[in-house]
Amino acid sequence: MGPFHTVLLSLLALRSWRFCLADDNGSSLASLMVNKDTTGLYYVNASVGTPEQFQMLRLDVAQPYTWFLSQQLKNSRLADDETDTQASTFYSSDNSSTAHPLFGSQIRSYDLIDRISFNATAYMDTVQLLAMNSLPASSSETSSNSSVAWRSNSSSLWFQNYAFFDATEVTYNLTQGALGLGGKINHPGSPLDSSQYNESFFFLDQMLNNDLISAASYSLWLGADTADPLGSLTDSLNNCGKIILGGVDRSLYTGDFVKFDTVPYLEKDSGASSRGYPIIPLNKVSVRSESGQVLNMTSDHFLEPVLLDSRYRYNYLPLSLIVQIAMQSNAYYVESLDRWLLACDVASLNASILFQFGNLIINVPLRDLMGPTYDFATNGSLHFSNSQPACELRLLPKTDIGLSILGGPFLKNVYMAAELDSYQIALAQASTLLRTTTSTTTVKSSTSSHATSSAQSANGSGQSPFEHRAALSTDNPSAIKSGTIPFATTNNYSSYDTLVLYASTAQPVDDNTLINQFTATISSDGVIFTGRSFYNTSYTTVPSLSTSGGPKHRNNAAKKQILNVQIPTPIQTYTTLIPLITIAIFALLA
Ligand SMILES: *[C@@H]1O[C@H](CO)[C@@H](O)[C@H](O)[C@H]1NC(C)=O
Ligand SMILES: *[C@@H]1O[C@H](CO)[C@@H](O)[C@H](O)[C@H]1NC(C)=O
Ligand SMILES: *[C@@H]1O[C@H](CO)[C@@H](O)[C@H](O)[C@H]1NC(C)=O
Ligand SMILES: *[C@@H]1O[C@H](CO)[C@@H](O)[C@H](O)[C@H]1NC(C)=O
Ligand SMILES: *[C@@H]1O[C@H](CO)[C@@H](O)[C@H](O)[C@H]1NC(C)=O
Ligand SMILES: *[C@@H]1O[C@H](CO)[C@@H](O)[C@H](O)[C@H]1NC(C)=O
Ligand SMILES: *[C@@H]1O[C@H](CO)[C@@H](O)[C@H](O)[C@H]1NC(C)=O
Ligand SMILES: *[C@@H]1O[C@H](CO)[C@@H](O)[C@H](O)[C@H]1NC(C)=O
Ligand SMILES: *[C@@H]1O[C@H](CO)[C@@H](O)[C@H](O)[C@H]1NC(C)=O
Ligand SMILES: *[C@@H]1O[C@H](CO)[C@@H](O)[C@H](O)[C@H]1NC(C)=O
Ligand SMILES: *[C@@H]1O[C@H](CO)[C@@H](O)[C@H](O)[C@H]1NC(C)=O
Ligand SMILES: *[C@@H]1O[C@H](CO)[C@@H](O)[C@H](O)[C@H]1NC(C)=O
Repeated sequence: MGPFHTVLLSLLALRSWRFCLADDNGSSLASLMVNKDTTGLYYVNASVGTPEQFQMLRLDVAQPYTWFLSQQLKNSRLADDETDTQASTFYSSDNSSTAHPLFGSQIRSYDLIDRISFNATAYMDTVQLLAMNSLPASSSETSSNSSVAWRSNSSSLWFQNYAFFDATEVTYNLTQGALGLGGKINHPGSPLDSSQYNESFFFLDQMLNNDLISAASYSLWLGADTADPLGSLTDSLNNCGKIILGGVDRSLYTGDFVKFDTVPYLEKDSGASSRGYPIIPLNKVSVRSESGQVLNMTSDHFLEPVLLDSRYRYNYLPLSLIVQIAMQSNAYYVESLDRWLLACDVASLNASILFQFGNLIINVPLRDLMGPTYDFATNGSLHFSNSQPACELRLLPKTDIGLSILGGPFLKNVYMAAELDSYQIALAQASTLLRTTTSTTTVKSSTSSHATSSAQSANGSGQSPFEHRAALSTDNPSAIKSGTIPFATTNNYSSYDTLVLYASTAQPVDDNTLINQFTATISSDGVIFTGRSFYNTSYTTVPSLSTSGGPKHRNNAAKKQILNVQIPTPIQTYTTLIPLITIAIFALLA
């Protein structure tokens, strides 16, 4: 049985389990299916217009808007490069009888917090989002004037008047638009400023104003993403997670579910402050070996605001922290690639990086923070001289982008809930799907016994998990209400009221003193040399910080290596490294 069948089986198991567990009062919450494409990022299936045009929309927790790639973009791309468009879908307003241009078809520039930008016009049209279960019967389109309805023939949520941006130019040749789940942006004078848009522009507000959820809120679980991070780039997965609209499912996490107030983001020019971004303070990072040995990578004074961003496959952190992790995993900085490379075998050490947010510790396997390398010359990975394949560390200095970001590899390991109006985020360690040799699927959590004991219909046909809408707002203990994320406990940070994240411009790494010790150079015959030694790990400089409100970090060089990684071996590689650079940069986000 191939991996595809295994995925299908696990989906069936997941589905029967969710109807069984959703909550004990027989009501449930609508959720959207999340898929992963060949770029390693997550998307939801949607369609737009009349007749329907199929769309893949990138899951985007870092901004509130929905946007599509325009048909015009497809035309310009086809002229250049046909292969680029495989994972892409495009919107043609000309071909939709229900499309209405807004703001006089004016083209405006949208520059998002995470360096993604696009030029676009605003449109309103019908939109359908593929959902996993139905809405209350009373919201069916035949029985009310609701502008949002459940369509059972396509198993989707249907929106009559959905406003979005149609992008004719994008940065980084992005392959998909986005379904934005972020909070409102306060940036007067900018096309991003949310006050100029009505509810039609905000997916969660439309759900809220049609009484389908009790607060502009969602929770996100990607725990069914079982793809090997070191596997082939062509692996894609359907239904590897879900977005629960307006609610929390306790079975999707283990341990404490801890809530945080978001850290305000301050615009550089106007000083305008937004709390709608999922930015929370990270106060400690450590490495844990399989045997349970733990080593601090940060000092006691470390406090770093990090943006959670599902559009990134990479993570951006202070350079001093990356150096500490590189030292533990024996990674080399290869300047010509601007990447840290390490032996792929390190992934098998079963080490983890522990990200600590006050009293909450999130365990991320080191393997999830690694990725394969590719060399066009050999149609394979780069290799060390002892023929070990080389992998890359998916950690990059925050100076590359102007702020710290935890991307997809981190989000896959957490269960995250957001209540946008009260600026709260709650996180817990995600329950993950474990696939056994018999192809059955269980959820690794305290409630996993429910997963396999379901005798209920696996297809859910004809079932409406909701008896009536009121179940959502009043009776359902799992519903997120304004100001309250159910089951979430408060964090034990004393206070970070004064912590803010200042917008800053990206700049190349300028701290050569720090990085030189870890830098490898490529000789003319293609061998990478490194002068690094673990017996001389002291250094004195640290990069400057772009954030304030917390004490500056102190350098905390690790004195020992707890992971049993071999002493450096020169990297044997090939002279054709340039194509790898191109691929790597393209792959940062898509
Ligand atoms: C079921 O709903 C009732 C209120 O109608 C609530 O008191 C009870 O806690 C709910 N039980 C569960 C298991 O959700
Ligand atoms: C979502 O779209 C992808 C890409 O076209 C497709 O492979 C997948 O089957 C779709 N999922 C569903 C449930 O339709
Ligand atoms: C619009 O629809 C027509 C007829 O279905 C089709 O031939 C044409 O290719 C479509 N154009 C675009 C830009 O999708
Ligand atoms: C739907 O709209 C029509 C006309 O706008 C109105 O007459 C009717 O009462 C509405 N029905 C409901 C259930 O609100
Ligand atoms: C699904 O149902 C809606 C409303 O009843 C209808 O407009 C639409 O054409 C149907 N779609 C398909 C694919 O049958
Ligand atoms: C948007 O348009 C402006 C002005 O023409 C241009 O400078 C900018 O590069 C465009 N943005 C993108 C993402 O292409
Ligand atoms: C975008 O793609 C075009 C051709 O497909 C290529 O020439 C260009 O360098 C790419 N831009 C980026 C930023 O990757
Ligand atoms: C939002 O604004 C657009 C454009 O002005 C309008 O067509 C639409 O009806 C508005 N949506 C709501 C829910 O008022
Ligand atoms: C590691 O962190 C803990 C908690 O912050 C602290 O108590 C301990 O002293 C640190 N250990 C080292 C070696 O820095
Ligand atoms: C890592 O875990 C796997 C599976 O649990 C185990 O087979 C392997 O021996 C472990 N690796 C090390 C180095 O302990
Ligand atoms: C590269 O390797 C893959 C499998 O590793 C193979 O499927 C593919 O055909 C190879 N491509 C070329 C151009 O040799
Ligand atoms: C769904 O399950 C019911 C009963 O379990 C069955 O009668 C029905 O045919 C199934 N529908 C589909 C589409 O599989």
